[in-house]
Amino acid sequence: MTNQTWNADDYQKRAAYVAQLGKSLIELLQPQAEEEILDLGCGEGTLTLELMKSGANVRGIDADPSMISSAREKGVNAQLQSAIELDVESEFDAVFSNAALHWIRPPEQVVEGVYRALKPGGRFVAEFGGAGNVESARSALVSALEKRGHDSRQFDTWYFPTAEEYQCLLESYGFEVRNIELYSRPTPIGEQVTDWFRNFANNFLAALPESERHSFIEEVSEQVASGLQRDEQGYLLDYVRLRFVAVKS
Ligand code: BEZ
Repeated sequence: MTNQTWNADDYQKRAAYVAQLGKSLIELLQPQAEEEILDLGCGEGTLTLELMKSGANVRGIDADPSMISSAREKGVNAQLQSAIELDVESEFDAVFSNAALHWIRPPEQVVEGVYRALKPGGRFVAEFGGAGNVESARSALVSALEKRGHDSRQFDTWYFPTAEEYQCLLESYGFEVRNIELYSRPTPIGEQVTDWFRNFANNFLAALPESERHSFIEEVSEQVASGLQRDEQGYLLDYVRLRFVAVKS
């Protein structure tokens, strides 16, 4: 589980790129009319709506109430549910997930639940942070916490596996992995590196009292920004994605 909490309005304003960049994953899924599809970690529903354009019957689940309200306002069939509590059997033709699996532990429980939820031959198509993802931010957060006397392992809850690790995990539950790749995708995060930490690093911030968080964010942001490249949309953070297609055999 994670200490990350969300504000769906802020997320839409500051992290719209998450859904934008996830659109090519839908092409990989190739959703078909009338298929039953689960969008696991649907967030505020932007990509779920895109999936619905195919004519598939799409259900979104997310563990965050603010995200679920926002998705429902858009007309998405969205349910408040954690991905580790999937309790359905052979119900879906496909399970889709973008930028969610790195938040959810234990990953074994997620993969087991997805396998069970799929019909035989069903596809699991997903992308999330892989080994080395946001390493500049992660190492700055770890050292800043350690410097303050905290055991960072307790708060470093992101899950960023290698392709080999994740393939083994998928296969151990019976999936046939059709393809899996780890690729580097430097991602524009705007001009305010502090916003990125405020949006995405709640797991680390949970170590600190409210009164210390501002200076902590300023410190890690300054350190990280000095090493980042920029483009016309602002700073580029060192995102690494793990993308795969696996089939229930
Ligand atoms: C991501 O890979 O999408 C991500 C991971 C950790 C924090 C923020 C974003």
